[in-house]
Amino acid sequence: LKIFAYAIREDEKPFVAQWQEDHPEIEVQFTDQLLNEDTAKLAQGADGVVVFQQLEYTQKTLKALADLGINKMSLRNVGVDNIDQAAAKKYNFQITNVPVYSPNAIAEHAAIQTANVLRQATVMEQKVQAGDLRWAPTIGREVRDQVVGVIGTGHIGQVFMKIMEGFGAKVIAYDLFRNPDLEAKGYYVDSLDDLYAQADVISLHVPDVPANVHMINDESIAKMKDDVVIVNVSRGPLVDTDAVIRGLDSGKVAGFVLDTYENEVGIFNNDWRKKEFPDARLADLIKRPNVALTPHTAFYTTHAVEQMVIQAFDNNLLMIEGKEAKTPVKF
Ligand code: COI
Repeated sequence: LKIFAYAIREDEKPFVAQWQEDHPEIEVQFTDQLLNEDTAKLAQGADGVVVFQQLEYTQKTLKALADLGINKMSLRNVGVDNIDQAAAKKYNFQITNVPVYSPNAIAEHAAIQTANVLRQATVMEQKVQAGDLRWAPTIGREVRDQVVGVIGTGHIGQVFMKIMEGFGAKVIAYDLFRNPDLEAKGYYVDSLDDLYAQADVISLHVPDVPANVHMINDESIAKMKDDVVIVNVSRGPLVDTDAVIRGLDSGKVAGFVLDTYENEVGIFNNDWRKKEFPDARLADLIKRPNVALTPHTAFYTTHAVEQMVIQAFDNNLLMIEGKEAKTPVKF
């Protein structure tokens, strides 16, 4: 049996080698190239492919794989929003993802960045670098004094809740699908409006499905408390970036943590130092001292990357052996 993996980065190679060592009977080949309709042919002869990219898995790409007799595809990440679902169905694809590679990686990044914004840590650091060692006006807000509103209480949301409680914050939550344990402990508010009315920090941990697109917009921001801090380490399209910028400009929004951005594909994970920066709005956000922006790196830890690689290969092997995968994607 043979597995072909796309877009393998340097930091993933030791884990690919580790998996290969543990499965000497399987032929593993890989490339650093992304999967697209042209590179699909590299997988010729493989029984399954392991992939990871933010660009779309298009109809043409999936057809190109299907034409080679390959219809078992394992994503090394959680999000499946970039798959042409109709094409996946049409070509009979069996797809797996890695829904839980490390909730802590993402949750702790959100928590660190939130604390950073509340305490104005970056502002103080910049002042110090510039030789200004005065305290004022860089006064912080303690995390324990905040009501933290968590939208989405899946694996990541739950870890974020625990970390924020560790800081001493009061945590409230909203989810369409309530977790019974959290429900019994009284975390849930009845509506998003209730959460907006009570929370000083609002953190999103929901998927990018059509109903959630731009859930943070002018109208929802108007319902929030003054000086709210908005945190999005989930998916860019959840937030109407222009609305948050209006909130930052008016002073209604005190801080914005973002690790995902609605136009990030092709911009994040690229070196712009010697090229013209392609997005003026993003450039403006990056310059703001009360905005903590990272280029979709919340997931990027050794623990997470190891799990992404190992679980994706494990899933792919199960499928190509005709067994049930551990985490199949059901559209
Ligand atoms: C995911 O696992 O879906 C992520 O958000 C990681 C990302 C770099 C694609």
